[in-house]
Amino acid sequence: MDAFDTLKHAFHARLKTSQTDQELAQLKADYLGKKGEVTQLMQVMKDLSESERPVYGQRVNALKKELSEALNAHKKALEKALLEAQLAAEKIDVTLPGDRVQLGARHILSSIVESIEDLFVGLGYQVKEGPEIESDEFNFEKLNLPKHHPARDMQDSFYIDPNTLLRTHTSPVQVRTMLEVGGQKPVKIICPGKVYRRDDDDATHSHQFMQIEGLVVDHHTSMADLKGTLLKMAQTMFGADRTIRLRPSYFPFTEPSVEVDVSCYNCDGAGCSICKHTGYIEILGAGMVHDNVLKMSGYDPKEYQGFAFGIGVERIAMLKYGIEDIRHFYTNDMRFLRMFNQ
Ligand code: DAH
Repeated sequence: MDAFDTLKHAFHARLKTSQTDQELAQLKADYLGKKGEVTQLMQVMKDLSESERPVYGQRVNALKKELSEALNAHKKALEKALLEAQLAAEKIDVTLPGDRVQLGARHILSSIVESIEDLFVGLGYQVKEGPEIESDEFNFEKLNLPKHHPARDMQDSFYIDPNTLLRTHTSPVQVRTMLEVGGQKPVKIICPGKVYRRDDDDATHSHQFMQIEGLVVDHHTSMADLKGTLLKMAQTMFGADRTIRLRPSYFPFTEPSVEVDVSCYNCDGAGCSICKHTGYIEILGAGMVHDNVLKMSGYDPKEYQGFAFGIGVERIAMLKYGIEDIRHFYTNDMRFLRMFNQ
């Protein structure tokens, strides 16, 4: 082996282990640079004879070419390997399922309100809303509940000042609507909304809950109209086979007043734990609008009669879906809310 071969071996040995651009640049400088090993070989030229020089010169040039080609090839191979590693690392699997977008859904109470609205709008009713901060006059007095009337105790109230309170029921919207038409025209409305009572929250009580009020005032309105309307509602909410029964009750704003029961959807009236073995479940209060209420809102009770009803929305939802604690509606536990996503 001559100096050429030794140099070549040493070069290739270093080339093999060179992994970075820096190492390659250093290798190039060490061999092909100004003071590099190959350049140094050239310096021998001057000591050679005329005849030896061209041959020697050619060998050096050939060596120079070989080394620089080997360097370039190695550099390209390194770049390729680097690119491949990068591509492998950044690979995207377009067949992987994407992240699902979480869609919101109607709250169960909104769904119940909407289905009741749908029914009544189909029967020609208008949907009305009223303020949650209400005057004592509309919440009580014009509903035949003067100050100090004992029935006010049925609805423990949040007063803001002596004449203003958070409405305890949706019934004041009746008064507002009758006054709006000045006691001159028939009305047919339902009024969904939030109401407030000073109750301690527990499984069946909440200081805030929802009601839907219904009111029809017209010439010749009768208890039979009320019963037919409520039967339709009970069947829409609890199934086409349901029947209802009316029990005498008392509300200051209706006379006569009734509690309405629906035949049990679980046992069909035979008696079970859901209906406490009575075959019926109480769902709402109703009655014929009291003459005093009609008069205070401008109607002549000889010309107009009316019926009214008040439905507790949470109660309907609890019955329909077997929910045992009213607080579930308000605590926004996603596991609960998702059960009703349709
Ligand atoms: N306002 C009553 C309550 O909150 C419910 C009610 C009963 C409304 C009878 C009515 C009705 O319109 O006729 O307890």
